[in-house]
Amino acid sequence: HDERTFVMVKPDGVQRGLIGEIVSRFEERGLKLVAGKFIQIDRELAHEHYGEHEDKPFFDDLVEFITAGPVFAMVWEGADATRQVRSMVGETDPAESAPGTIRGDFGLDLGRNVIHASDHEDEGANEREIDLFFEEDELLDYERID
Ligand code: CMP
Repeated sequence: HDERTFVMVKPDGVQRGLIGEIVSRFEERGLKLVAGKFIQIDRELAHEHYGEHEDKPFFDDLVEFITAGPVFAMVWEGADATRQVRSMVGETDPAESAPGTIRGDFGLDLGRNVIHASDHEDEGANEREIDLFFEEDELLDYERID
């Protein structure tokens, strides 16, 4: 299969009704949705997911925020999927994100930036995050027709 990348609509995006808009953008781009899950992240999962930020001053706020309400976690598949998704998502800070990107169009600030996508510069990030959120049999295969 093609490259797989982990993406998640954060609690602010869910609360603002942006799941459909975000899913549509990736679908229209030709990426293939292979897994999706609407879940409430608990503190343990938050610590595992954001472990690399444990020493950052904003870590407690980050855990508080990501556990504040449900998230919509997804796996998208396609050629060069990680880089494609990152370019559609924009920069971490919405203020630095170009119009037309998801954060550039909908993000409010560094915390409330609507969406998480695996870092393309972190070699193992996709596999690690997919494994953390999904069982192998939750990734489904089918033919995507354009
Ligand atoms: P994300 O791509 O999910 O990965 C880590 C998150 O930490 C990032 O998005 C931001 O939402 C958040 N973050 C990064 N820097 C800061 C900061 N200075 N203050 C608050 N949140 C931050």
